Amino acid sequence: MKIAVAGTGYVGLVTGVCLASKGHDVTCVDIDEEKVEKMKKGISPIYEPGLDELMQQSMDHLQFTTDYGAAYKDAEAIFIGVGTPEKQDGSANLAYVIKVVKQIAQSVERDCVVVVKSTVPIGTNDKVESYLRERLVHDVKVDIASNPEFLSQGTAVLDTLHASRIVIGVEDEKAGEVLKNVYEKFDAPIIVTDRRSAEMIKYASNDFLALKISYVNEIANLCEIVGADIEDVTKGMGYDARIGKRFLNSGIGYGGSCFPKDTKALSWLASFNDNEIKTIRAAIDVNENQKLKLVKKAKKYYEDFTDLNVAVLGLTFKPGTDDLREAASLVNVPILLEDGAHVKAWDPVGAENFKKLYPKKVDYCSSIEETLKDADICFIFTEWDEVKKFDIKKYEQLMRKPIVLDGRNCYSLDAFADTKIVYNSIGRKTVNSELM
Ligand code: UGA
Repeated sequence: MKIAVAGTGYVGLVTGVCLASKGHDVTCVDIDEEKVEKMKKGISPIYEPGLDELMQQSMDHLQFTTDYGAAYKDAEAIFIGVGTPEKQDGSANLAYVIKVVKQIAQSVERDCVVVVKSTVPIGTNDKVESYLRERLVHDVKVDIASNPEFLSQGTAVLDTLHASRIVIGVEDEKAGEVLKNVYEKFDAPIIVTDRRSAEMIKYASNDFLALKISYVNEIANLCEIVGADIEDVTKGMGYDARIGKRFLNSGIGYGGSCFPKDTKALSWLASFNDNEIKTIRAAIDVNENQKLKLVKKAKKYYEDFTDLNVAVLGLTFKPGTDDLREAASLVNVPILLEDGAHVKAWDPVGAENFKKLYPKKVDYCSSIEETLKDADICFIFTEWDEVKKFDIKKYEQLMRKPIVLDGRNCYSLDAFADTKIVYNSIGRKTVNSELM
């Protein structure tokens, strides 16, 4: 099938490459010439495990261009995977989606289906349909379908090739058939709904996961107070299939480009319709507080951070990505710097992006050991494998004061039993607290 994809971010590029890997002829469109040139050489402009390899294997079916007219004019399906960033009031900014829709209206010369993959507020697809139909230059029938994305950064390729489900929201049976053909070779259950329900499935799913994390973080905070252990608690909860084992990891809150944006967007949508969605509002508030958890914990050990050597392990919002959006590091590091701390940081792929924000004030290290050298306290913001596998004896050997604040529960408490390391994690007892 001849397919065009608008936007080559996480959603657009991964979708395009995966569709090409199944034999469709895919043209990916982006406005950035430099990015397009890179992709033509089989190099992905985003860091995503497995993407470069699949791109190179699928090059026979892949094209990249800035010429949207040529890409859209005879495509049978046009996927929109551009960003819908958060506006100041929390609502979703649809400017990029609308721009692409306008270009499609000017370009299409055959009947086709426009597939909205970008996360858009409920009702947007209806608006897209009338906006597009009013502007069509050629006499063609264009249907709009909602096909929300459930991939996670870091596992985006696998999540797409082995999707938990494929949701197709259509108002026209024929459009549904076109999309079923697109996904014919994907091994995943297909759920066909009306467009508004499909749009809602996306928000309801993301916001439910965000809610689950905030809930477990609140339970973790209570565990610290009452002397219970969150790892045991969630293990005990997870065996109940109605609760499930996944997404029960407590920590310093959720970040990334999706949960923070999508919780705010749904909350905005509800209040705009005079229908407050209290659970989501609470999840947002809990998360904002949770991100400050490690700095608050640090105040137990040091009244202020002036001239303190602080080691920071992990800067990205989660492992497997170089993305810093809404990462806990972005809230905590500025506080430490403002307080006069000397911050040394390590992240295997996120340091370059962090450097763009803080080129001089932070010392970037190429190893965990270098970061820990002479540190008075260590903050763990991201559970990179390198951190999880790190020989914990080295915290004691390298740090001036071995105080480890772990925002991602990377280690078992037992591992610290025979050490002099103060190990303070989330929702668990502090090991060696008596040493401070
Ligand atoms: C999320 C969803 O998981 C995807 O299904 C969805 O398609 C995507 O948003 C999107 O809308 O595009 P993503 O933001 O890439 O994916 O990352 P997640 O793996 O969901 O993690 C988000 C945040 O939650 C991270 O900061 C992570 O550390 C945190 N998290 C996750 C926890 O704190 N605890 C957990 O148990 C799981």
